[in-house]
Amino acid sequence: MTIFELQLYIAETEKNPALYQEHEFDKRIEAIDFIDFQVLGRIDELLPGTDQPDQLILLRNRAEKVKAKLEEIDVTLFQQLQQTIKAAGYTTNGFKNLVNEYVDTSSEETGYDNLDIFINGLSHLQTMPEQTRELEPEMVYYQKTPARIVFELAEKAHFVKEDIFFDIGAGLGQVAILVHLLTGIPTRGIELEPAFCDYAGDCAAALCLPDVIFTNVDAREADYSEGTVFFMFTPFRGEIMQEVLAILKKESLQRKIKIITYGPCTARVALESWLYFATPEDNNMYKLAVFNSY
Ligand SMILES: C[S@@+](CC[C@H](N)C(=O)[O-])C[C@H]1O[C@@H](n2cnc3c(N)ncnc32)[C@H](O)[C@@H]1O
Repeated sequence: MTIFELQLYIAETEKNPALYQEHEFDKRIEAIDFIDFQVLGRIDELLPGTDQPDQLILLRNRAEKVKAKLEEIDVTLFQQLQQTIKAAGYTTNGFKNLVNEYVDTSSEETGYDNLDIFINGLSHLQTMPEQTRELEPEMVYYQKTPARIVFELAEKAHFVKEDIFFDIGAGLGQVAILVHLLTGIPTRGIELEPAFCDYAGDCAAALCLPDVIFTNVDAREADYSEGTVFFMFTPFRGEIMQEVLAILKKESLQRKIKIITYGPCTARVALESWLYFATPEDNNMYKLAVFNSY
């Protein structure tokens, strides 16, 4: 981009009314990304070689100002939506409809996208916690399930109102919070890292969700006696996975359970003879797989 093109883009962004409308979340995210990577990045490239730095510095200030203004709209939007969730106790279709007003949840994409940015803004607190515990070699570090996959999970699990959902290796708690908001069923998160567990609990409390509970415990020591649907985004491998599957197998002798997997652990869970694959077409680490106990 030339300096003239940069000036033109900033001027257009400053006065594009659509970007300042609350509902135009997608357009705003695109503009913020463009300013970050194309405009500010390009200004930084041009600055060392120019004999007129003042013009570029001025442009940089304008770009930063318009970006901050757009970000501020989203901060206010999320504060309002959090109040709405607290007051209305949004669960089931109401929550999905609410999200659809801002981001299209029906896209077939499965990676991280604007839906993740939206759900992060809505369900996360400002400061992210740091990992404080060393993980054992078979344990997997935190990475979150894409929000679209959680929306898919809420459909594919065919929850009934008696279900209680567990996210084993719950990380920062987004899966348990989202599943509860989307379905209304009680959800539980089991997480080894105390800082993550505290943070997840704080996020649920900030939205007034008493039926979303996080427990700081090793998955091998957790109490699963109330659970009926268990989700794992590959939280561990090897012997730990074997041990946790043996515990879940015992639970399945008391009542029928579902195990839903995402990532490489699907192939491991598919080997369990006490489970049958409800969605054999999804024997693929990039898909959500549902297993039922016999
Ligand atoms: C890949 S992340 C998944 C996070 C979350 N389920 C999600 O999808 O957003 C795996 C999580 O499992 C946790 N974890 C690993 N081993 C664990 C164990 N033995 N018991 C409980 N949590 C464990 C990690 O700390 C990490 O937060």
